[in-house]
Amino acid sequence: MSYEFILAEKDGPIGVVTLNRPPQLNALSYGLVKELAQAMESFDQDPEIRVIVLTGGEKVFAAGADIKEMVDATPFDERVRGRFDFRDRINKISKPVIAAVSGYALGGGCEIAMSCDIILASETARFGQPEVNLGIIPGSGGTQRLTRTVGKYRAMELMLTGDQLTAREAERLGLVNKVVPVELLLEEAKNLARKIAAKAPLAVKLAKEAVLKAANTPLDEGLEFERKSFYLLLASEDRKEGMRAFLEKRKPEFRGK
Ligand code: COA
Repeated sequence: MSYEFILAEKDGPIGVVTLNRPPQLNALSYGLVKELAQAMESFDQDPEIRVIVLTGGEKVFAAGADIKEMVDATPFDERVRGRFDFRDRINKISKPVIAAVSGYALGGGCEIAMSCDIILASETARFGQPEVNLGIIPGSGGTQRLTRTVGKYRAMELMLTGDQLTAREAERLGLVNKVVPVELLLEEAKNLARKIAAKAPLAVKLAKEAVLKAANTPLDEGLEFERKSFYLLLASEDRKEGMRAFLEKRKPEFRGK
């Protein structure tokens, strides 16, 4: 499939999606977000792909919702068009998604990065929710995901001032897994993706589901979910292969079954 606002390419078991609307700083127009959801869903369904890497440009990951597109829209226009429908679909991807963020990740850009599973950042990355400068608030999870990640007080300050976090600050607050030099960002993201891609796919899938559950459920329920997933995986061929390979001192060959 060819796209207008993004690039999508395969690199072995990795699906790389690149936001590619540089003149508008990758502003998240309807067209771009629709293509993004379609590309990610297509990689999610592709048996050759095990991990997705989502990146943008060197100067900007994404500068948030397209303000030009939104400036004259009424609440009803936006509701009928379903402003967040495609973004919600990105949250439902079942394979691991690694965000490789360089430059600005603001507003919806920050929200999209936060809906990924792991965030690598270049030293130039900047994270923020500047919606308050425009008289709105985040609408795609920013107030909730940022607060659950960095805590109430830092999230409140960021939300109320619109200030940006540097990559190092974001790393200190647990919003970023690792900060790397800009020229190494994509390679580091792919190395991490390859490492995950070599693991048993069903175990990876259920591990992702279980970790995401932790944010949404009381502990008892989360523990129950984890336990059921554990027993379920004992029925997979890959777990037999993984355990036998360990005992036979060889590399396992996982088949996703
Ligand atoms: N929506 C639409 N267009 C955007 C945009 C957005 N979110 N962010 C940037 N652009 C456009 C600018 O209008 C400008 O277009 P022009 O060349 O036609 O004038 C172009 O991208 C370059 O932006 P500019 O502001 O000149 O770049 P900068 O390097 O000085 O600043 C930012 C970069 C990201 C700090 C600044 O563009 C910005 O604050 N953007 C808005 C961020 C935001 O509020 N996001 C939340 C939206 S809900």
